[in-house]
Amino acid sequence: MRKNVVAGNWKMNTTLQEGVKLAEDVNEALKNVDAKCDVVICVPFTHLASVNAVIDPAKLGLGAENCADHVKGAYTGEISAPMVASTGATYVILGHSERRQYYGETSETLKEKVNLALANNLTPIFCIGEVLEQRENGSYLEVVKSQIEEALFELSAEDFSKLILAYEPVWAIGTGKTATDDQAQEMHAFIRGVIADKYGKEVADNTSILYGGSCKPSNAKALFAKPDVDGGLIGGAALEAESFMGIVTAF
Ligand code: 13P
Repeated sequence: MRKNVVAGNWKMNTTLQEGVKLAEDVNEALKNVDAKCDVVICVPFTHLASVNAVIDPAKLGLGAENCADHVKGAYTGEISAPMVASTGATYVILGHSERRQYYGETSETLKEKVNLALANNLTPIFCIGEVLEQRENGSYLEVVKSQIEEALFELSAEDFSKLILAYEPVWAIGTGKTATDDQAQEMHAFIRGVIADKYGKEVADNTSILYGGSCKPSNAKALFAKPDVDGGLIGGAALEAESFMGIVTAF
């Protein structure tokens, strides 16, 4: 059966020293709780190796926030999937709306990134989600379906089964405006149906689908109580150990 997962996405926050301290705090806090979910922190590239050195991988997973769509070579400033893996990280967020919106990432480049992540034993946390206009004009289900089909549906069932999906409505990210638990459930159940139509019910039932967008300790319980919401991808509330743990313990 699918896993529950709570993953932090630190985005472009914390210096190296602040990041190592935050990772140590989360790692320490996890010693005192019996977490009912897998817990992951996705941190800036510069922090990966240092954070890996201070966490217990049995309790806390580590991921990057992106990787390149090429394996190596003359791509100044890019970080490849093998480089990420060589730090000890085992997850990578791909297709975050901020990458799509500000850095022009398309389904074509994301397809390459997913392939390279999988080839390097990284678990992609693949993000999908509609913008406000699409929510309001009623096209949100179709938009998310297309994002999944375009980037992921050339994968074999075996490879698709290695993914974690994260539904992040763009209008809820960093805005304090959370999707209601019913809105999240509607979309998550729809996504599971899209997966079932392509790969069958077993693959769909085994896929973890996380919710992201202004998730915090006060709303996590209600969101996670929904049958198709398997955890969260957490931005702002992951930047303090206490609020992050408040979400981890919502399961
Ligand atoms: P916030 O939790 O800050 O809204 O960010 C969500 C997000 O984008 C996680 O990837």
